[in-house]
Amino acid sequence: MSWINAATKLFGLVGHNISYTLSPAIHNYIFQEAGYNAVYLAFDLSEERFLKTINSIIDLCEGFNVTIPYKEKVVEFLNGVDRNAERVGAVNTVHRGYGYNTDYTAIKSLVNERMGSLENMICFIYGAGGAAKASAVALGDLGCRLFIVNRTAEKAEHLARKLDSLGYEAYVANQCSANVDVVVNATPNPSFVHDICLSAKLVVELVYAPVETVLVRKARSRGVEAIDGIRVLVRQALEAQKIWSGIEFPEDKVIGYLYARKLIW
Ligand SMILES: NC(=O)c1ccc[n+]([C@@H]2O[C@H](COP(=O)([O-])OP(=O)(O)OC[C@H]3O[C@@H](n4cnc5c(N)ncnc54)[C@H](OP(=O)(O)O)[C@@H]3O)[C@@H](O)[C@H]2O)c1
Repeated sequence: MSWINAATKLFGLVGHNISYTLSPAIHNYIFQEAGYNAVYLAFDLSEERFLKTINSIIDLCEGFNVTIPYKEKVVEFLNGVDRNAERVGAVNTVHRGYGYNTDYTAIKSLVNERMGSLENMICFIYGAGGAAKASAVALGDLGCRLFIVNRTAEKAEHLARKLDSLGYEAYVANQCSANVDVVVNATPNPSFVHDICLSAKLVVELVYAPVETVLVRKARSRGVEAIDGIRVLVRQALEAQKIWSGIEFPEDKVIGYLYARKLIW
């Protein structure tokens, strides 16, 4: 920490029960490697402390990330959000009080690099929480029809209605159909995704511990391309860095660093 001085900029992660987070390791590594005078901390806040401190955090931090359970709640404290964060209804990155959603930009760019446009394609999203919504809006913007599969049917219906109101073609389903093109696991349970989904061209996994989940392993063993959760996590962090500092850092170097420190396996 020898670089910390009076000019050091403050960044951090706002969430609750976030002992698992890799974000401080990722961002402090990038700041150090890029020679950018900043430090990134984890702010683990109960709801009471969140309400007491969020305005000060916005004021003091050059930028910060937001995770569960505050991605939606933080919006009312900000001085605005960009169009993507507005449509997703959640913010995971704040810069000088303004909100963005880099889960959205990460998923959209990773899928676009592999598939191009998803016009006339069918995408299944497993899950109906925050990550499912960011994934659905991202893939919907690439042009596909969306099918939502969720443990709790009412939440799937609620998400499909919301997507419909945003102008996407969205339905609820019980499981993948055989003509699926892209499938996303946006639940914490990779086994929840039915094997029939493995007829897809691309699997996107959001769980990153272990990096090769059962879903990723099954997909790759059948020759189906899979984007693993750590690639999504690191891409959203790099998208946040672009907004905060303008730094463009190599993705594979960050992933290599996390393996070397045995923070991922
Ligand atoms: N790699 C990344 O960068 C990244 C980014 C964001 C999120 N994630 C990961 O994505 C996952 C979802 O995050 P989130 O923010 O969307 O959470 P969330 O808002 O709490 O939503 C969780 C979703 O998962 C479903 N679910 C929970 N436990 C389940 C189980 N055992 N079996 C089947 N479905 C289950 C829930 O279904 P119900 O509606 O039935 O409760 C809900 O749809 C988490 O594992 C998170 O760590 C990763």
